[in-house]
Amino acid sequence: VPIDAERLGFIASGKSSYEEWRDAQGIPVVTGFHIPDLKQVPVQPWDRKGVKGTFLDLEGTGDTNDAYILEIPSGGSTSPARQMFEELIYVLDGRGSTTVEVPGGSPISFEWGAGALFAIPLNCGYRHFNASGEHSARMIAVTSAPVVINLFHNLDFVFNCPFEFTDRFSGASDFFKGDGRSLPGRVWDTNLVPDVLSLPLLTWDERGKGSTNRMIELADSSMCAHVSEFPVGSYKKAHRHGPGAHVIIIGGEGYTLMWREGEEPQKFDWTTGSLVVPPNMWFHQHFNGGATPAKYLALRWNSAKYKVFADTGIADDVKNGGNQIESRDEDPRVRAQFESLLAAKGVSVRA
Ligand SMILES: [Fe+2]
Repeated sequence: VPIDAERLGFIASGKSSYEEWRDAQGIPVVTGFHIPDLKQVPVQPWDRKGVKGTFLDLEGTGDTNDAYILEIPSGGSTSPARQMFEELIYVLDGRGSTTVEVPGGSPISFEWGAGALFAIPLNCGYRHFNASGEHSARMIAVTSAPVVINLFHNLDFVFNCPFEFTDRFSGASDFFKGDGRSLPGRVWDTNLVPDVLSLPLLTWDERGKGSTNRMIELADSSMCAHVSEFPVGSYKKAHRHGPGAHVIIIGGEGYTLMWREGEEPQKFDWTTGSLVVPPNMWFHQHFNGGATPAKYLALRWNSAKYKVFADTGIADDVKNGGNQIESRDEDPRVRAQFESLLAAKGVSVRA
């Protein structure tokens, strides 16, 4: 069977279908382990979106998901779009609205501002609008584009499929009202969190004393989110899990250690607006290095309702086949490093 020249080119490039698509978008692609400040990432005109953007394709995604930054100019809007991959969106700056097309009905709109978190229901047409006459708006979207584009490798299917997922979004006018329901396991089931910083959190001592947390399900997506906060002078237990957890710092300052089992930890400093993505099954440990509580929003796989990967027992002792290092088994250098860094700031480590 003859193979066309274009496919031969793809084979020669060694790229995945997703990488071919991504690189053809004409916007920057940021790689690595961590982004110091999402608000400062340079953006370039992105024809497909009609505004400026940049891909963030960090090592820790393991080719399972990706992220992009979108910057919408004052008074501007994105081009209409729909796609067969999920998008979880967190607003970094500005305010505006999003219009979502309703199967067989008229579109619905909802407003957002900095700190809002929502999901575009799968394959619904949508547009974002910047409501400000003066300021640009900036958002980060975490998407499942890599798996979807790589599996189907047909862009017409991914971006022009007429199928309507009415099981996820029936068109209810209150869909993006911002309310929700509590499910077992500290889960908040919703479609829009108007302000992640104000979402009430619940106690979660398993990962460290004084920690609070909330799991978030969005628009019946397979990807989900969680928010964690941990107090001054504290740090989380080291743990590991699958790829693609995009950890966005939304309050405080500190650092994360990440290491492959048996290797030396690498240290990544962060502050509000930083992003870190721990690679597949690398141990990682978050430290509050500041004088205020530290808080982060993780956009990731494995919704409580729709599992994608097997549960890896991330809160179980690694000695019992789990994936968390209990405090008694921690390398003493971990705490010593934290104590000396905090001492320099006049903060003591919590018992
Ligand atoms: Fe983690």
